[in-house]
Amino acid sequence: MSNLNQPNVGEDFIRFHRIITRGLEVGIRNTNEFLKRGSIEEQKREGFLNYVEAFSSFLDGHHKVENQQLFPYFKPLIPDVPYLQLMKEHKVVDSSLKEINSGLNSLRSKRDVISSLKKLQSGFKKINQIWHPHIQIEETQLFQKVGSLDINRDEMIRIQKKFSDFFQKKAGPAYLLVPFALYNSSPEDRAILAQGFPETVTQQLVPIDWKDKWTSMQPFFLK
Ligand SMILES: [Fe+2]
Ligand SMILES: [Fe+2]
Repeated sequence: MSNLNQPNVGEDFIRFHRIITRGLEVGIRNTNEFLKRGSIEEQKREGFLNYVEAFSSFLDGHHKVENQQLFPYFKPLIPDVPYLQLMKEHKVVDSSLKEINSGLNSLRSKRDVISSLKKLQSGFKKINQIWHPHIQIEETQLFQKVGSLDINRDEMIRIQKKFSDFFQKKAGPAYLLVPFALYNSSPEDRAILAQGFPETVTQQLVPIDWKDKWTSMQPFFLK
């Protein structure tokens, strides 16, 4: 998932942050609206639940890649990053994701709508408090420095693939996460992201084979 002309895993991860940041904003805004209304509008229900599921898995997978692949790779190259603090913050976010997932499970079975939405609201709120300072540290102290490291093109492509394969093993389902990533990205980011997928994903799977599975999320996507 990268601009093939200038592969840079740091820029990839800044783009992933933008996807998550938008997902968080959309999640918070809609949860608040549904709570105000006292219910989830029936025509938005399936899409919203899929959207929040994709957000949760995407963020969980993002942390797993950072903890288990990206941080260990860059630690010897850029040692002055508070890696331990960042991993502690991941744990805090992950416990909020559990709260969101628990609310999501009840909403799927149409149980306890208000208390489930409140779980989502509480989880999103806690993530929102930590997310912005957290990515500020990652981006300024780590990701923005990747481009100036002595990593050649082949090696950059190798680690992009390694991180991407790892993410795909940890996060899913792909039929929700790939459209979630593409359509929470600006058209410019989306074009770069799309270059990193095999053509069958962007030409066949997303627009045709997977379409029925993800189109419910469209009201929450960027054009
Ligand atoms: Fe992180
Ligand atoms: Fe991150």
